[in-house]
Amino acid sequence: IKITIIDREGVSHEVDAPTDMNMNIMELVRAYELAPEGTIGICGGMAMCASCQCYVVNDVPLPEKSDDEEAMLSEAFNVKPNSRLGCQINITPEIEGLEIELAPE
Ligand code: FES
Repeated sequence: IKITIIDREGVSHEVDAPTDMNMNIMELVRAYELAPEGTIGICGGMAMCASCQCYVVNDVPLPEKSDDEEAMLSEAFNVKPNSRLGCQINITPEIEGLEIELAPE
């Protein structure tokens, strides 16, 4: 599926995202090296660091936030109503066309 990621410099990248590799958005950003090593995915995808925070740009329906994701976002910086943790969004066919912007470091 296609996912669009706006990096922290404001550059938009449309990338191919595999739905059969049990991958999430944080891992996708890392795989395409759209954020410097060590600035995203610090907790390894455990919803404990918010380094993978992103803003959802379009209205592709996403799974509800878990309590862990809600809790982490309530403590993170630069949180907006459309903030999500990239590591908590799995790449599935349902999110085809999703566009997100990486939150500042
Ligand atoms: Fe740490 Fe997502 S990688 S909260």
